[in-house]
Amino acid sequence: MSNGPKPLVAGNWKMNGLKDDAEALAAALKIRVAEAGSTLGCELAVCPPSPLIPVVGDVLFDSPVAFGAQDCHTEQKGAHTGDVSAWLLADLGCQYVIVGHSERRQNHCESSELVNAKATAAHAAGLTSIVCVGETLAQYEAGDTLAMVERQVRESLPQGASATNLVVAYEPVWAIGSGLTPTTDDITKVHAHIRAVLAAALGKGDDAAGVRLLYGGSVKPGNAADILAIDNVDGALVGGASLKVEDFLAIATAAC
Ligand code: PGA
Repeated sequence: MSNGPKPLVAGNWKMNGLKDDAEALAAALKIRVAEAGSTLGCELAVCPPSPLIPVVGDVLFDSPVAFGAQDCHTEQKGAHTGDVSAWLLADLGCQYVIVGHSERRQNHCESSELVNAKATAAHAAGLTSIVCVGETLAQYEAGDTLAMVERQVRESLPQGASATNLVVAYEPVWAIGSGLTPTTDDITKVHAHIRAVLAAALGKGDDAAGVRLLYGGSVKPGNAADILAIDNVDGALVGGASLKVEDFLAIATAAC
């Protein structure tokens, strides 16, 4: 973990849960976080499916646990059937929005250019974007990880990005939901490289140093402490394990 920014542990609930599940999960999290009090030195956020944001918001509005969305559109409003505006997300109380998750890059053919436009919209709406990058297994095996990740960061990074409105999540595609994780050495190299790319893009000042770099992909209570102790790892983006309060809290505790 770096000495700089306050760590962020964000839960990506993906397309899981019905109304009652979301309400129960958020309520349990709120209680456990209140019990933990100031011993929890990191920031926590959850990103439920979009229709469940008001449900989660009603529970978490007076809790330190922030909430966000898993995607947004590039435009403020208009004829975009099925899409969700970043301004609506902000209006609902969201602080964060994930953009460029590999499941969207792959399943919805999202390019880094589009991710950049979505992050731009998120920032204009007052949200913090969590921009996801990461290589496929083929790219990893070909030794292309650093080049791929660098390209995705450069292309996805919007104008005006800063430590206050940008979080970058490194999520190797092959580690997501697979139980596999890169070695400590791999994560160290990738995060150091992302920090250097940010320094080149944002300048070497507070912004590049202050942008939180999350690791994501099969983070569990059993590996969280090792992963979160790595230099330039400022938190985690957690999928499956964020659906269980005790697992999510155990990961958050490892981040502090
Ligand atoms: P996982 O998902 O923790 O279930 O691997 C992480 C993510 O996709 O953000």
